[in-house]
Amino acid sequence: MMAALDLKRLVPGHVLGFEAYVPSKPDAELCRLYQVPHLHRLNNNENPLGPPFPAREVLSGLNPQIVSSYPSGDSWALRGKLAELWQVERDQIVIGNGANEVIGFVIKAFCGAGDNIVTADRTFAVAEWIARFSGVTPRLIPLLDYRFDVTGMVTAIDLRTKVLFICNPNNPTGTHLTTDELEDLLQRVDGRAIVVLDEAYAEYMEVSDFPDSRVLLERHPNLVVFRTFSKAWALAGLRIGYLVGGRDLVDAVRRTAIAYSINVIAQEAAMAALQDNGVHLRATREMVHSSRSLVSIAMQNLNVPTISHNGNFMMLKLPMGDTGAHRQLMRRGYMVRAMSDFRFPGWVRLSLSTPSVMGGFIGALSEILPRLSRVSEPS
Ligand SMILES: Cc1ncc(COP(=O)(O)O)c(C=O)c1O
Repeated sequence: MMAALDLKRLVPGHVLGFEAYVPSKPDAELCRLYQVPHLHRLNNNENPLGPPFPAREVLSGLNPQIVSSYPSGDSWALRGKLAELWQVERDQIVIGNGANEVIGFVIKAFCGAGDNIVTADRTFAVAEWIARFSGVTPRLIPLLDYRFDVTGMVTAIDLRTKVLFICNPNNPTGTHLTTDELEDLLQRVDGRAIVVLDEAYAEYMEVSDFPDSRVLLERHPNLVVFRTFSKAWALAGLRIGYLVGGRDLVDAVRRTAIAYSINVIAQEAAMAALQDNGVHLRATREMVHSSRSLVSIAMQNLNVPTISHNGNFMMLKLPMGDTGAHRQLMRRGYMVRAMSDFRFPGWVRLSLSTPSVMGGFIGALSEILPRLSRVSEPS
């Protein structure tokens, strides 16, 4: 009999002390558990309209033979196309298996054990998590009025601070830093740390004071911008996102990037999505507009407070625990995100889908609001 694994010795303390993320179960399993024929996924800010037409065409015409060869190891063609769009050099772009992967590349490139990153307490938490299990300290600056606190973040910088992560607009509050606020932050950071702008929801922005990151990149060599094909572009299942930044900065990031991690289908579909002539993004924005108005009015009528600014999501404050509300909505076929894990207990985040799905959701929510104590939960 071999000796038992001595995990305490083998696994670093910062990994041992980290709790693994538990993704939701597959839809079929959830439908069985909650006894519903269909589940509307309103928990991951996906785009129910599906991929842009050129991407659909490419996907449906794929020759299965292509998967027997490795893809381009550094997404050469896609980086070329993105470089044109961003008016930068190809080498200023790194593609990842989702934006999540590029968050990891950046932390690995700049942070060693004992260093720190600065971000907010109530924002998309993947940077915080990667920092924690890498032995890097996340400094979490409380949001102010549901917005990133520029002064708080700048004040938190010390000699071990390597990266500031700003989610713009913020998931889950939808608030954004304006061009002036961001310029102010970049001036005050003054090259002492890398500044990441996670623009996963940039395509949804329709306000004139949203920063043009292309312009900022020209002026600030310590800036890096993240984008994803998972949200407005509706390619979440293919896992593809990227970063663009100053040449020297990206030169460091490329050392920690995993070659060949973006599969050939994702590369082809992302290239095709970018051929869309604006029809897809227009339709997507219109859907989100209509649904936001519909849900906002309904929540006012139901006396449910909301936080709703930008992005294809809204936050709802329910008069009950968020995990209980989640379960009751699941029993009616609507999957929202319970927000205790985002440090918003009592809130759920709702992805804005088609107006007809939103109508159904409003009906389901109205049912559970007055019937709190009578609903039995599945085990
Ligand atoms: C702010 C933000 N950044 C990054 C991501 C991750 O995107 P991807 O699917 O490209 O990994 C998400 C996904 O929810 C997000 O909300």
